[in-house]
Amino acid sequence: MRDAAPPDPAFRADVLAGLAAPIPAIPARWLYDRRGSELFEAITRLPEYYPTRTERALLERHSVDVARIAGTGDAVVEFGSGSSAKTPILLRALGPSAYVPIDISGDFLRESAAALQQAFPGLAIHPVEGDFMKPITLPREVAGMTKLGFFPGSTIGNLVARTAVDLLRAMKETLGVGAYLLIGMDRIKDVDVLLRAYDDAAGITAEFNLNLLRRINAELDGTIPVDAFRHRAIWNDPMSRIEMHLEAVRDVAFTVAGQPFAMRVGETIHTENSHKYGLRDSRLLLRAAGWGLCQEWTDPDDQFVLILAQAEPQRFAP
Ligand code: SAH
Ligand code: AVI
Repeated sequence: MRDAAPPDPAFRADVLAGLAAPIPAIPARWLYDRRGSELFEAITRLPEYYPTRTERALLERHSVDVARIAGTGDAVVEFGSGSSAKTPILLRALGPSAYVPIDISGDFLRESAAALQQAFPGLAIHPVEGDFMKPITLPREVAGMTKLGFFPGSTIGNLVARTAVDLLRAMKETLGVGAYLLIGMDRIKDVDVLLRAYDDAAGITAEFNLNLLRRINAELDGTIPVDAFRHRAIWNDPMSRIEMHLEAVRDVAFTVAGQPFAMRVGETIHTENSHKYGLRDSRLLLRAAGWGLCQEWTDPDDQFVLILAQAEPQRFAP
């Protein structure tokens, strides 16, 4: 079922500007309406999509180490929490008094929070619906609590480096000096493994990508013929990222919110970046934003890394 909410003006503005751009592109956060969130959950269960199960295993193994280093924080604040499926592993090890899941996919967030509340009846859960790229005001109930930020799933990879550093800096502001951040990042690896993870045999990732067009049609009065597009996943080596595109398979014309657009066969709408980070890249990213490295944990094949960092005070150095 579609979200019954009125059209989001920010969605409308991003889609109209993105489709009119010389290289058409729409920010990846709009992939997550309710159906998009459900499709992402289905992706996490695909045999080709290694990140979720690899990160889950790392959490199962090392959450106690996180608790040992970071202590049992008063509040866990999760950015892009989605279904919060991996969060219980961390909550059991840390035993915080409050949990703040932040997500742009509002209905999905509230349902996930309600399900988690059943499993953790004594935990104060304060969901925040919002765009984590904008300043976030944390619920007043967690003011004064020490905080551990949790940013799993390699969602940081969906941002270009400059924006990723902006977000990590903003997280430091939100969580406060001395706070900890547990972040998951996906490693650079064999290109075939990456391509299969983003273009699976069952076509779920394709559906996740094409759902953006269905969302535009439903929420912005669009006339896009979805069958005129196909999902493409490509590896951009210089940028060290997988890109998702929607490629026109024939010349196509349509309107969105009454505005006309035309695309030629082979032209694409760029819908997502998923950056992959080498050992020193991930460290540099955190350092650039003022987060000091505490500990890194990776799987035996170095497919994925969990990093614990701490918000550093301002330092004066040469
Ligand atoms: N943390 C989960 C989900 C990752 S999917 C996991 O590790 O499996 C990415 C999540 O981030 C989605 O739930 C999506 O709705 C959310 N998201 C993406 N961009 C966002 C933004 N700008 N602000 C808030 N949430 C966002
Ligand atoms: C949420 N994010 C980290 C996922 C990723 O791997 O970039 C989204 C996704 N896109 C296609 N498959 C999964």
